[in-house]
Amino acid sequence: MTTTTSLTQDELKTLVGQAALQYVVPGEIVGVGTGSTVNKFIDALASIKDQIKGAVSSSVASTERLQALGITVFDANAVESLSVYIDGADEIDGKGHMVKGGGAALTREKIVAALAQRFVCIADESKLVSALGRFPLPVEVIPIAANHVARRFAAMGAQANLRLANGLPMVTDNGQHILDVKGLTIADPLAFESEINQWPGVVTVGVFAHQKASVCLLGTAQGVKTLVF
Ligand code: A5P
Repeated sequence: MTTTTSLTQDELKTLVGQAALQYVVPGEIVGVGTGSTVNKFIDALASIKDQIKGAVSSSVASTERLQALGITVFDANAVESLSVYIDGADEIDGKGHMVKGGGAALTREKIVAALAQRFVCIADESKLVSALGRFPLPVEVIPIAANHVARRFAAMGAQANLRLANGLPMVTDNGQHILDVKGLTIADPLAFESEINQWPGVVTVGVFAHQKASVCLLGTAQGVKTLVF
C-alpha cells in the first residue's frame, strides 16, 4: 500500500475539490457551497466550465469567486431543483450528519442544499468525528434575539458567544448575527436540529441532519475515501 503522509491539509482539500468534479452533471446547474475546501472545488470547476450551465451559490464570497472564473451564477429562485450540491463541513459523523457555518454561510447553504437531490460533502479527514459537538456550533440569529437564544443554550449547559469581526458583531450575508456554541453534546442530530430551529429568533442552526450528506469525499493520507450514507 502506498502512503502519502506528507500531504498537507491544503493539499487534501485540493484532492477532494478535484474529486468532486465526478459528481457534476454535464449541461446542468451545480449547487456550490462556501469555504476553503469549496474554493478548491470552484477552481477545479473552472476547468470544465464550458460543460455546465452554471452554478447556484451559497454565499457572496463563492459567487464572486465563481464569477471571476467566468462561471454563470443563477439565483436560487431561478431553479426548481439541482442534481447535486457540493460543500464542505466543519464536522461530519459516520452517518453523514454535519456541523456547518464556520464560514457564516449556513443559512444559504441549507437553502441551496434543500434544492439538491444529492449533497456531496468534501472534507479533509480532520472533519470526521464520532459525534457532533466538538466544533463550536454556529447558529444564525436575528440580532435582537441573540441574548435570549444564548440564555437558552446556557440552560442546556452550553456557552454561546456572539461572533465578532473587527470588534463588532459579525454580520452575515443575510444581515443577521452568529452565535458560536461550545459545550454541546449532540446525541440525536435530527431531534436537536428540529428543537433549536423552532426557538424564536433562530434563523438557522448549523446542524445539517435533515439535509445530511449523501456522500462524503474524505481527503486522507491514503488518498480520497468515498463514504456513502
Ligand atoms: C461555511 O459557512 C461552512 O459551512 C463551511 O462549509 C465549513 O466551515 C467548511 O469550511 P472549510 O472548507 O473552510 O473548512
